[in-house]
Amino acid sequence: GKVAVLMGGDSAEREISLLSGQGVLQALRARGVDAHAFDPAARALCELRREGYARCFIALHGRHGEDGTVQGALELLGIPYTGPGVMASSVAMDKTMTKRIWRAEGLPTPDWRLVGSAAECAQAFAELGSPMIVKPVREGSTLGLTKVLHAGQCQAAYRLAASHDSEVLCEQFVAGEETTCALLGQGAGAQALPIIRIVAPGGNYDFQNKYYTDVVRYDCPSGLPEQEEQALRALSLAAYRTLACRGWARADIMVRASDRQPFLLEINTSPGMTGHSLVPMAARASGLSYEALCLQILAGASL
Ligand code: DAL
Ligand code: MG
Repeated sequence: GKVAVLMGGDSAEREISLLSGQGVLQALRARGVDAHAFDPAARALCELRREGYARCFIALHGRHGEDGTVQGALELLGIPYTGPGVMASSVAMDKTMTKRIWRAEGLPTPDWRLVGSAAECAQAFAELGSPMIVKPVREGSTLGLTKVLHAGQCQAAYRLAASHDSEVLCEQFVAGEETTCALLGQGAGAQALPIIRIVAPGGNYDFQNKYYTDVVRYDCPSGLPEQEEQALRALSLAAYRTLACRGWARADIMVRASDRQPFLLEINTSPGMTGHSLVPMAARASGLSYEALCLQILAGASL
């Protein structure tokens, strides 16, 4: 049947979603799938049923796409969709909720404070120490994020994050290596793809460097000792299962340089699928082409 590739949307990551969606759309069509672009920012989702769509590939990022709202609408319409369900999507979009659950389950995540003012942000800095990351609770692609080194930066950092979300998170910075792990499937069949090590100049893996420059180096295979590679994959799978994810997702993990201790930062339940994106890179390293990856994710579409 017909497949709608949901792309665009009204979040701050709209442009990235359009890139992801175009990639997915082309890949599915190349493999003979009757796929069409559908932008929920321009049309009502109920048209999906009227137009006879059998399944949706969600290539939306951020709010109203990755946060359970679109997933809920598709549940009501009875149209199977890719990726995690309503609850997992909703929890994973909220970095604080995610961290609370992981911590309760004994999974490592950096210390944090939820703050409601610049003064509280400064207080958090006094408690958590330098450097500290200040970011919106529900945002993606490092939008609105500041690495605070001095107390004097707290006010601007808070304001920037608060301009993206009503909730602001302060998090202890983990000095070390940035890694990520793509996850596919569900239940006992869930699997972690090879770890990617991200080496950004000056540690600046920011919005610009994520999508619009070629200065970031990606190591996949990671080059990490086999034992560490396996430990990071196992941790990512645990993080995925703990949030009740299904379909696919990507866990972001910092590895502390001093003792190689890993810390989970977040799970993205509708990860980027652009030419620069990480899940396709990890898939390729495990012998899965971009097109085959898209087909596999689509095959996991469910209600
Ligand atoms: N939020 C971006 C799209 C990602 O995690 O890949
Ligand atoms: Mg993210």
